[in-house]
Amino acid sequence: MNPLRQHFEDRGQGQVFRFFDQISSDQQEQLIRQANAIDLDEIDTLVENLLKSSATQEAALDLQPANYLPVPCNRDSSESWQKAHAIGSQALNDGKVAAFTVAGGQGTRLGFAGPKGTFPISPVSGKTLFQIFAEKIAASEKQHQCTIPWFIMTSEGNHQDTLTFFEENHWFSLSAENIHLFPQGTLPAVDQNGKILLEDKHRIALSPDGHGGSLRALVRSGATQRMADQGIEILSCFQVDNPLVQCIDPTFIGFHLEKKSTLSSKTIMKTNAGEKVGVFCQQGEQTCVVEYSDMSQELQQQTESDGSLSFRAGSIAVHLFDRQLIEQLGGDHDSVTLPFHLARKKISALDKSGQPSSIDGIKFEMFIFDALPFAQSPMILETLREEEFSPVKNAQGNDSPESSKQDQLKQFARWLAAVGIQLPTDDKAVPTINIEISPSFADCEEGFIKAWNNLPTPPKVKDGTILS
Ligand code: UD1
Repeated sequence: MNPLRQHFEDRGQGQVFRFFDQISSDQQEQLIRQANAIDLDEIDTLVENLLKSSATQEAALDLQPANYLPVPCNRDSSESWQKAHAIGSQALNDGKVAAFTVAGGQGTRLGFAGPKGTFPISPVSGKTLFQIFAEKIAASEKQHQCTIPWFIMTSEGNHQDTLTFFEENHWFSLSAENIHLFPQGTLPAVDQNGKILLEDKHRIALSPDGHGGSLRALVRSGATQRMADQGIEILSCFQVDNPLVQCIDPTFIGFHLEKKSTLSSKTIMKTNAGEKVGVFCQQGEQTCVVEYSDMSQELQQQTESDGSLSFRAGSIAVHLFDRQLIEQLGGDHDSVTLPFHLARKKISALDKSGQPSSIDGIKFEMFIFDALPFAQSPMILETLREEEFSPVKNAQGNDSPESSKQDQLKQFARWLAAVGIQLPTDDKAVPTINIEISPSFADCEEGFIKAWNNLPTPPKVKDGTILS
């Protein structure tokens, strides 16, 4: 027997080659290539630790709310915020910052077939998420007179489509050599007994290793080396689903540097106990994020004497990583690596007789925020939901294209109100006309006021107006 096949047999994973004699020699080669890339020790450990062990989730123990830096009511005139802004601007000007988008997810809940970044989301022109980010990054480059390389993590399933999308759109006027796309790693999906599943007779069922896989993908793809060569020290990370995100925030960068943090995060206050966001917590000396699904009802609902939620610091999945922390956690050091989480999902795989089926299976994923316990002086900065967070996750309802477009409109309306223009609104304060302000015109209220006041003849704002 072929030694690889024997190896899988010896490790109790011989079913991977169950149909080997029924497939063509090309297909046999494909299967061997895939099987060769699988680290059976890693799979064994995951199955033993996560699937077979019935140990209580450690994360549920001894949790306290994490400290965070609150937004002061006089933010724009606050000395410390102005100082942080100046420090961050300098770091940008010195070319020390790159942007990073995790875009490897499968977007199942949204029900959109393409990569999520190609989803049209701006209210008038239907700009895609990727275009909005590209324009925000370009605006930051202009403001700080610097180059901001942009790293984008895709996955095997959407890498080619994402690349083609950028090529067809001419990299949205950014310089192609400054945008780096790379796919994240994969891990085999297993059944309830820890047996690796087959998607086809010649293909193992692989799934992305979670956004936490980005740390090793950044190292393995050579991205961290490229960053080091270019003098980049900080990576500004954000998810692909949030058009309101500030891709690059000088104040956040300034606080990160000032507090000597190696991993900083942004928080917003949860609107209600059940809101589906991760929560920043303190576990002993360590800061961590506990996912909503892992937090007990009791803790979620715990309140302070003033009635506010105790565990209220929600994560919007925006982080600043020092390059060195990524190198440390994404390198091949067994002693410091992110933990895996187990996700029970329906998996399209072959049943024992080789028939395509939907199997109750298990995927293993890493989460990027699990880097927090490894960070030095982790800093958490509060930001305002209406300014920075309105993700597109579901087809309808909360966090949907409709709610996100409304939130963009509300933001544009606030900026216009700051120059004395009131848009008509409905009873939920949502503008009843569609307008759009491109990041190239302004990417924040202050910038908007300046840009508006610089217009020789400001336009009449009406339904369909695009300021760009
Ligand atoms: C996530 C966070 C949650 C946070 C919320 C804010 C997790 C587990 N939870 O929830 O704490 O409050 O966002 O919006 O992350 N991705 C990859 N590769 C993967 C999986 C995901 O790149 O293998 C990317 C997706 O493309 C997306 C992001 O990670 O950009 C978030 O993934 P998703 O699974 O949608 O997380 P949420 O459950 O929404």
